[in-house]
Amino acid sequence: MAIRSIRTIGDEVLKMECKPVKDMTEHTAQLIDDMFDTMYEAGGVGLAAPQIGIRKQIVVIDVEDGNQYVLINPVILEMEGSQTGPEGCLSVPGKSGVVTRPERVKVKALDRDMKEYELVGEGFLARAICHECDHLHGHLYVEIVEGPLEDVTAEEE
Ligand code: NI
Repeated sequence: MAIRSIRTIGDEVLKMECKPVKDMTEHTAQLIDDMFDTMYEAGGVGLAAPQIGIRKQIVVIDVEDGNQYVLINPVILEMEGSQTGPEGCLSVPGKSGVVTRPERVKVKALDRDMKEYELVGEGFLARAICHECDHLHGHLYVEIVEGPLEDVTAEEE
């Protein structure tokens, strides 16, 4: 288990386009494990590789629905509806803001065995998928926030 340090807003890596993963190596498998460890340690529900300084298209998500999602080279195929609500990011510590996202998304990705699968997310999972996929293309939620960023205490994050 290894906790990596989380890059925060202002770090150039968070603005960069990430590269697709070509094959699963021991190094990449370790990276995925470390991403989960780092996300849990920080109390987050999702983490994208650039947040720990790695320009690869890898996302991990755990919205406490009993799954540990790994999305490698994810592509959002469908979006439906909309939801407006608070969102935060481990790379924007201590803040939250209101963001509108689709209510439901269908995403195509590779799992940690590099097998392609499709995932349909609704509600909070849809929000997490969109947020994390944005990271892979150099985008943070603060670019699309509606209204001011609010301060949140550590317990609420
Ligand atoms: Ni984030």
